[in-house]
Amino acid sequence: MTGTDVIILGAGAAGLFAAGQAGQRGLRVALLEKAEAPGKKILISGGGRCNFTNLGAGPANYLSANPHFAKSALARYSPTDFIALVEKHGIAWHEKTLGQLFCDGSAKQIVAMLLDECPPDCVTLTCGVEIAEVARGADGRFTVTAADGRQWQAPALVIATGGPSIPKMGASDFAYRLARQFGLKVVEPRPALVPLTLGGEDVLFRELSGVAAPVLARAGEGKQKAEFVEAALFTHKGLSGPAILQISSYWRHGEPVGITFLPDAASDWLLEAKRDRPRTHLRTLLRERLPDRLADALADRLASKGSGLEQELGNCSDKELRAAQARLADWRFAPTGTEGYAKAEVTAGGIATAELSSRTMEAVKVPGLYAIGEAVDVTGWLGGYNFQWAWASGFACAEAL
Ligand code: FDA
Repeated sequence: MTGTDVIILGAGAAGLFAAGQAGQRGLRVALLEKAEAPGKKILISGGGRCNFTNLGAGPANYLSANPHFAKSALARYSPTDFIALVEKHGIAWHEKTLGQLFCDGSAKQIVAMLLDECPPDCVTLTCGVEIAEVARGADGRFTVTAADGRQWQAPALVIATGGPSIPKMGASDFAYRLARQFGLKVVEPRPALVPLTLGGEDVLFRELSGVAAPVLARAGEGKQKAEFVEAALFTHKGLSGPAILQISSYWRHGEPVGITFLPDAASDWLLEAKRDRPRTHLRTLLRERLPDRLADALADRLASKGSGLEQELGNCSDKELRAAQARLADWRFAPTGTEGYAKAEVTAGGIATAELSSRTMEAVKVPGLYAIGEAVDVTGWLGGYNFQWAWASGFACAEAL
């Protein structure tokens, strides 16, 4: 193709959005996609209804080696801007919980909207392109060559090929390889928003597969630590559910995960119960507040090691009850790992933000080269934050092209 202003690699959330924005500014865009259709992850997102943004999306909801990097782009394209776009296209939406916005209908509407936003005389989408080589000439122009010999040339190239999570959908480390080819550093990628696996003593909890309960879950150390109050789910491999997916992004191999069962309970609730209902058993109290199977598993473990906690509360010592309260408030699990990229909703890490301008997403050392979306070392929480980053980084890039 001749007369192209920008080549965008990847027609996912970030690439499609950036292509539309650049096209509307009159730029001629070649949008190249490996899959046979665009926006595949959008289509499966949010259980098919696409959690397209979060009302509260701000820099604090993202992990990155540089927590300030996302600020500029997020400020210049906000959830309100995306909502306005969704409404312009007549797409009905609702808030499910915690500021998470979903389509009333289907995620297909978001893909259709993004395609609609691409002016056909400016944006050419080509699917099924297997990229064999990307080169930059002495004149600074980029040439993309496909395995079948087709070529595209332009003075600007945008990497929007996402991260390696869900490889069975064709996701790969292509973005990182390309970035490294141009001398850009990559922050070690790792699966994020991913279930954790349990082994050792914790393995017994796997018997609770299918049981869920609201918890406060915490993980991480130093600046990269976080806690979330949401549901946790026991699985046949370990732990999942929103609270666990959220902390998985902060968790590192070898570190414990802390779970507060009954996060709303007063700090002295067992001593109060001993006073108010001395004939009751700990197991009964737990069963009143938690699913029976979980209550029994916790009661069994608390009462083990010859403690008196199998007795009526009135016969338990205050010391034992305080210790049980403390353990329920900070139950330590030692995950053996994660379920990996096969189950990870996103990839943390990626193209180092230190290599990019936070205003434009352009590589500082390679003029004309840009990176946006999940390929970059900016990872959002669960709940629409990752799409908001795709829109905001795509917008920042398109404005600068
Ligand atoms: P994205 O992965 O969307 O797009 C990359 C594109 O590049 C793909 O189309 C891919 O085929 C293409 N590509 C890859 N290699 C290529 C190559 N070599 N050449 C050409 N093209 C290539 N987030 C959220 O905010 N709300 C939600 O509801 C969900 N739900 C959700 C569910 C599931 C199951 C998953 C796996 C993920 C989510 N996410 C999410 C995360 C969200 O989908 C993700 O963060 C964004 O899609 C990232 O957008 P990108 O455009 O960066 O990558």
